Amino acid sequence: MNEFACDVRNGLSKPQKELPSKYLYDELGSALFDAITVLPEYGLTRADQRLLETHAADLPREFCAVAEFGSGSGRKTRAVLEALSPQRYYPIDLSARALENCSNALAGLARVEPVEATYLNGLDRVPRNGEPVLLLFLGSTIGNFDARCRGDFLRQVRSRLRTGDAMLIGFDLVKPVEQMLEAYDDPTGVTASFNLNLLGRINRELGGDFDQRAFAHEARYDPEARRIEMHLRSLRDQVASIRDAAVECRFRAGESIWTESSHKFQPEEICEIARAAGFEIEAQWVDEQWPFAESFWRAA
Ligand code: AVJ
Repeated sequence: MNEFACDVRNGLSKPQKELPSKYLYDELGSALFDAITVLPEYGLTRADQRLLETHAADLPREFCAVAEFGSGSGRKTRAVLEALSPQRYYPIDLSARALENCSNALAGLARVEPVEATYLNGLDRVPRNGEPVLLLFLGSTIGNFDARCRGDFLRQVRSRLRTGDAMLIGFDLVKPVEQMLEAYDDPTGVTASFNLNLLGRINRELGGDFDQRAFAHEARYDPEARRIEMHLRSLRDQVASIRDAAVECRFRAGESIWTESSHKFQPEEICEIARAAGFEIEAQWVDEQWPFAESFWRAA
């Protein structure tokens, strides 16, 4: 059984059914996410972009190599590469297609060396020649980690860096609940499609028979955990079977599958997260239109 099938099998056998959010991004899911980034209700990507365009020129210039977790469309990275003109750029992504798109978009700004791997394995494969490396972790993807995994993950990142290396990392900040809910449940229905596509992907890739029309997209905010959760709520009692995951899954009407967490941060909390992972904050910029922080950390 492949990893996707195993993860689906495990996730759907929990009392609160869940599916890992990384599986939202197949070809259709990635296209839908790109559409999310231009929704009027989803200000996150524009805030990230504005901060990079305004402040990339304030970054120190000593980085010969830039690595990035997730390669995205390359639009945000462009501002950084233009400001720093590094020799080499290492996008790290599990998707060969995403790496190809970003290589095409950024060729000419640096020698692009795509790394098809998980974030941590990919970072291990970035060659070092004694010069400092800048690691980009943009778009508040760190918000997808639950609080416990987040600390472990950032310490693992730190252990792969050397003193003097740096990380530029984005954090989406807490804002009024209505505004956060609209961003994850837009009236156009793009985020709903993005979420429901996960069931379509399971049908296509694992021989599932989910009736996508029998589930509804839901965004909730948990104020204690300070996170937006995306769920797929079953509209009736039903059974779905997934051939390649050897799963027969029962749903009661109203029961949900939890598909993503998106943590929202308080500015004060970022200092503690950095310190606990072995970094020092050297600079931090916050967007005025859409509370979002771009934080520049040095490996201490
Ligand atoms: C790409 C993980 C930052 O959590 O805001 C957008 C993904 N999910 N709308 C986020 C997402 C629903 C996004 N990240």
